[in-house]
Amino acid sequence: MSLCKVEIYEASKRDLQLVKRLIREIFDRWHSYYAERGLASHNVLVARVDGLIVGFVQFKVVDLGVKIGHIYYMGVRRAYRGRGIGRTLVVRAEGCMKDHVACFIASTQENNVPVLRLFRSLGYSVISWRRAYEILKGLGAELEDEYDLMWKIYDYDDVALLKVNKRVRTL
Ligand SMILES: CC(C)(COP(=O)(O)OP(=O)(O)OC[C@H]1O[C@@H](n2cnc3c(N)ncnc32)[C@H](O)[C@@H]1OP(=O)(O)O)[C@@H](O)C(=O)NCCC(=O)NCCS
Repeated sequence: MSLCKVEIYEASKRDLQLVKRLIREIFDRWHSYYAERGLASHNVLVARVDGLIVGFVQFKVVDLGVKIGHIYYMGVRRAYRGRGIGRTLVVRAEGCMKDHVACFIASTQENNVPVLRLFRSLGYSVISWRRAYEILKGLGAELEDEYDLMWKIYDYDDVALLKVNKRVRTL
């Protein structure tokens, strides 16, 4: 399906209430709890179609000695999936962080095929947290091990999704 007319913008306080509802619609109770917390700790972009909020992404720059762009929870209302909205949200989140970070990191469960494919299509590698830790150490991060990394970004999914940000690397 082709990309529909979608507006992406930074969530206002009022939008955040609507995103909370969307989170409860999309996620189970466990993930809703963490995704709602993410609304307070992360930047939030929302996708709107015909005045309706249909998707969101949470992200922030985390300083681990080296700065990384962490993409946390994201979701698109079921009826609006498969139209390029999820990909556009990630690209816009990356755009907000690209001048500041050495790499982008997200994560998912091994069986979440849509997320794996979406991030792979944007150039991310699907790797273990151990490997993510090693890459970040190579970029200059101050981390003790992969658990330290997971703890510092409150992210405990099965696999990490990582893309080095060439723009900063070549500076
Ligand atoms: C993951 C999610 C946000 C994707 O949103 P979306 O708007 O449907 O994604 P897009 O339409 O931008 O798809 C981008 C790419 O992702 C992949 N993809 C998306 N949905 C897919 C599916 N159901 N099966 C396989 N691949 C899929 C494809 O590679 C697609 O590119 P293509 O259409 O060119 O093949 C959405 O499925 C969702 O909200 N899932 C539930 C919540 C969730 O799991 N969030 C992630 C954990 S925080």
